[in-house]
Amino acid sequence: TKTPVRVAVTGAAGNIGYALLFRIASGEMLGKDQPVILQLIEIPAEGPQKALKGVAMELDDCAFPLLQDIQLFDDPAKGFKDANWCLLVGSKPRGPGMERADLLKDNGKIFIAQGKAIDENAADDARIAVVGNPCNTNCMIAASQARRLPKDRFTAMVRLDQNRAAAQLAKKAGVAVTDVSDIYIYGNHSPTMFADFTHAKIGGKPAAEVIGDEAWLKNEFLPTVGKRGAAIIEARGQSSAASAANALIDHVRDLATPGVVHAVAVPSTGQYGFAEGVWAGMPVRSTASGYEIVTSYEMDDFAKSKIAITNDELVGERDTVKEMLG
Ligand code: NAI
Repeated sequence: TKTPVRVAVTGAAGNIGYALLFRIASGEMLGKDQPVILQLIEIPAEGPQKALKGVAMELDDCAFPLLQDIQLFDDPAKGFKDANWCLLVGSKPRGPGMERADLLKDNGKIFIAQGKAIDENAADDARIAVVGNPCNTNCMIAASQARRLPKDRFTAMVRLDQNRAAAQLAKKAGVAVTDVSDIYIYGNHSPTMFADFTHAKIGGKPAAEVIGDEAWLKNEFLPTVGKRGAAIIEARGQSSAASAANALIDHVRDLATPGVVHAVAVPSTGQYGFAEGVWAGMPVRSTASGYEIVTSYEMDDFAKSKIAITNDELVGERDTVKEMLG
């Protein structure tokens, strides 16, 4: 039998947590033959800690064969101990009238503490996936605390955007989502992201050719994908939690599967014109122990202009938090 993989999850009593933990425990993330131990972390307040106990009771009640243990924590130093995967879902939501800069700084404090706790306590092979927003910059802040772990182990999630883009292209073309390929997200997980339809394929042919409507791709597809999160809040009265949890399952499973190419926000060393040191969405190919950035896509002037906008936003976020970067 395989050694269990330790998966630490912050914000485990939140909405995404509720849609996520049961799928990790059932084997959808790391495989149907891979035992897991869940190390669930919440803030040390009565409400969230009580809710966390409730979630653990339900996990017990599923009698998942692969779930070897559930451990509950209010201290990240203990919660990340020996963790192989650290899924950073919890963050402070944007309150009414709160400026983006204040959100960046408030969350920055959380991610400094968590980055440090991970670097000091997690397993040597630890990999980190940040979901809590603003996820690219939170990830950069956490990684800046790393002294032992390589910084490229810290990734942020743009997979929900990739999945949204694939679904929109399939719908427009009237094909199955499995017919859509080569659609990747560049830049920030925010409305400035660039969902690169210029290299996307439908049934192996260029998506632009199959759809035959450039105006739709530029003026409807891109804003629909970029503003999808807001559209879901408007419709549901709550933010997208199930699709976000699903995307995190995809993000981790594909990182753990050598050969898969998928969009992940990773530290830039200048690929595609991104500033060095920002965490930008790009296509990566998973390898046995990590990933390599796929640099072979040639961008046209339109794509370059879109990437420049999302890069500017990432650089601006970094400027806002520069005194927090270890
Ligand atoms: P939620 O508010 O339902 O749950 C968040 C949980 O995190 C709460 O239980 C809270 O107590 C906990 N938490 C807050 N600070 C913490 C800390 N320092 N340590 C441990 N736990 C902490 O929110 P939800 O819907 O689960 O979303 C979580 C985050 O994911 C939000 O920041 C949201 O913006 C982000 N998100 C990111 C997406 C992406 O594509 N990257 C997509 C959807 C959501």
